[in-house]
Amino acid sequence: MSKGQILIADDDAAIRTVLQRALARAGFEPQITSNATTLWQWVSRGEGDVVVTDVVMPDENIFNLLPRIKKLRPELPIIVMSAQNTFMTAITATELGAYDYLPKPFDLNELLAIVDRAMSDIKNNVSAAPPETKEMDVSLIGRSAAMQEIYRVLARLTQTDLTVLINGESGTGKELVARALHDYSKRKKNGGYVAINMAAIPKELIESELFGHEKGAFTGAVTRNSGRFEQAKGGTLFLDEIGDMPMDAQTRLLRVLQEGEYMTVGGRTPIKTDVRIIAATHRDLRSLISQGLFREDLFYRLNVVPLNLPPLRNRKEDIPDLINHFLGKVAEEGGNSQTRTFTTEAIEKLQAYDWPGNVRELENLIRRIGALYVHDVITEELVLQELSSQTTGQPHAAKDEYDICEAVEQYLAGYFQGFGDDLPPAGLYQRVLQQMEKPLLTACLTATRGNQLRAAELLGLNRNTLRDKIRKLDIKVIKTTE
Ligand SMILES: Nc1ncnc2c1ncn2[C@@H]1O[C@H](COP(=O)(O)OP(=O)(O)OP(=O)(O)O)[C@@H](O)[C@H]1O
Ligand SMILES: [Mg+2]
Repeated sequence: MSKGQILIADDDAAIRTVLQRALARAGFEPQITSNATTLWQWVSRGEGDVVVTDVVMPDENIFNLLPRIKKLRPELPIIVMSAQNTFMTAITATELGAYDYLPKPFDLNELLAIVDRAMSDIKNNVSAAPPETKEMDVSLIGRSAAMQEIYRVLARLTQTDLTVLINGESGTGKELVARALHDYSKRKKNGGYVAINMAAIPKELIESELFGHEKGAFTGAVTRNSGRFEQAKGGTLFLDEIGDMPMDAQTRLLRVLQEGEYMTVGGRTPIKTDVRIIAATHRDLRSLISQGLFREDLFYRLNVVPLNLPPLRNRKEDIPDLINHFLGKVAEEGGNSQTRTFTTEAIEKLQAYDWPGNVRELENLIRRIGALYVHDVITEELVLQELSSQTTGQPHAAKDEYDICEAVEQYLAGYFQGFGDDLPPAGLYQRVLQQMEKPLLTACLTATRGNQLRAAELLGLNRNTLRDKIRKLDIKVIKTTE
């Protein structure tokens, strides 16, 4: 007996055949067509347990047909596949009530797993009500595989109130994603999007900023003030740079999230929370936890759905799309209709660059080029010139302790990754500390021109200890005359 009848619609014969074979092999009864009209006929005759369909078909776009199918047979799971692969395709499919969305090319096993899940959902009577469609304009650009995975997750998340923790280097679009999550969610109707940056608010004000305060709660509290939890009521609260939240505020936040209610500073009555929480950070929270700087229990509260935004250097194929997007924005804002194009070589140079500041850095560069050059064609030379001015022009000198932390965090993350599921050899503590020690001692010796006495003083180490370490770590001391 067949596990279920699967209706397949795709104008690409190769895909139809592959799907037909794979589903038949998996015990289903596939039925294929190349057009939307036939699919609609089948569906209206009551055929099929699950639909697997392409978006663009010769006679009709599936996004036109979907509402009709949903109206006639709301319980029929429809899996949408598309080669268009934009954020809007994922969102539109989800908003029109598609059961799932798969960017092409996809993994056959994944599709089979989704079909299986759809069949068992039917048996268990799980059905998702189709949400309403809305027009929005948060544009997330990029069609790379990494971004598509993000779009899929985002599209699903818009239908839920789950807490999301967005992780990603600076400039990867964390804030944009948080905004998109709110704008496309049902919460948009009931409340606003309120953001608070934990790194930008003085430590002692965080609590009253989050929860509000009563009149006279502390010196300077001359009026009652609402906090972000109250302002975001019914909507979304975006806790940006959560890794920079002071410990005591973390404790308070954790309690609020656990209990589902909060009190204003100086207030007596508990108020029920009604916000969807999205948190973001560019820091490695697990490493902060091990350093005792972030509460592990709060981490688990927030990390319900982790979303890791890829750095731009890992999705360089998105660079041309991003360039066009930002050029369009520049033209729109400046009211000029001047069309600029980048030569192929210029784009290649941009793709060869590492983008430590990610999309933000690219956006700034395009804006700068837009403002500084009147040329219609942006050449390789011009791009190189701008790229070099950007690396030399920006002072990297102002390094603080966090930069060291981050560098070490990054190094360690990569180091552990290198061992896959295994652990590195024992003795890690000494090894890592030695790796820090060597460049530190070398730097001090260089700065003191090889004078060990002064280097020891600079380091705050005993002279003999320094000499020992120089020998053990095999550091070459080069004496230079002053
Ligand atoms: N996928 C994308 N498509 C279009 N624009 C993007 C994309 N990702 C980021 N941007 C743009 O890049 C800039 C930086 O993004 P955003 O502020 O969201 O980054 P962030 O991860 O929050 O950075 P930080 O950690 O520094 O706060 C914004 O102007 C945003 O609009
Ligand atoms: Mg940000």
